[in-house]
Amino acid sequence: MRGKIIAANWKMNLNLEQATNLMKDVRDRVDLEKFKSEVIIFPPSIYLESFEKNLTNSLVSLGAQDLSANIKGAYTGEISAQMLDFLHVEYALIGHSERRLNHKEDHDLLTRKVNQALQNNLKIIFACGETLEEKESRKAEEIVVQQVLKSLNQIQHERWSQITIAYEPVWAIGTGKTATPEDANSMHRVIREALFEKIGHLANDIKILYGGSVKPENAGELFKKPEIDGALVGGASLNYLDFIKIINAAE
Ligand code: 13P
Repeated sequence: MRGKIIAANWKMNLNLEQATNLMKDVRDRVDLEKFKSEVIIFPPSIYLESFEKNLTNSLVSLGAQDLSANIKGAYTGEISAQMLDFLHVEYALIGHSERRLNHKEDHDLLTRKVNQALQNNLKIIFACGETLEEKESRKAEEIVVQQVLKSLNQIQHERWSQITIAYEPVWAIGTGKTATPEDANSMHRVIREALFEKIGHLANDIKILYGGSVKPENAGELFKKPEIDGALVGGASLNYLDFIKIINAAE
């Protein structure tokens, strides 16, 4: 059985005080309740160091929303995989549509980010998902499979255990529209079948999360589906009670 992951992508939200308070509230609750799901927080990177100190003995995992495709050097503003590893950051989020679209991140760049992360012992949540236009032209499955296969094409067999996929249809992010549990489940199955062709039975162990307007009201129905192994939550993860309800829905 694949366990579930509930991940909070805070994006560029919350000042230091708000972020610290929310992290501590989530940490205390997660450590008290010992949920079955793994809970990960992806705060803005400037908070990672202080969060790491606060999460040292906690069940909550810490992730970076982005990392550089380069090893080191003259890359103003970038953060390397090695720097994250030194801070004991466990996860990196790669391939989010906001970076694909706003920063023109393409398959090649994402492949390099994936390689950097893996070489520095980071686990990856690799995001994929179609735009509304791609969905309406019935290309969603083809596009999503390409996103996954092209950027995850150089991974050694033993490294696949570091990979989690997050299917996040772009039209569902921050819009209040969610894929139906049936549609999400069916896309997850398509992704898993594509992975199965590439890496065989290892594909059965890879968790595939759903993201896109996940809320307490829809989380339970999504998590009932066999192919939905948790959620990558944006807006609702900024609210303590909503986020805990989503974790509870996975229990
Ligand atoms: P929302 O939950 O706000 O739709 O964001 C989803 C997302 O992009 C998580 O990475």
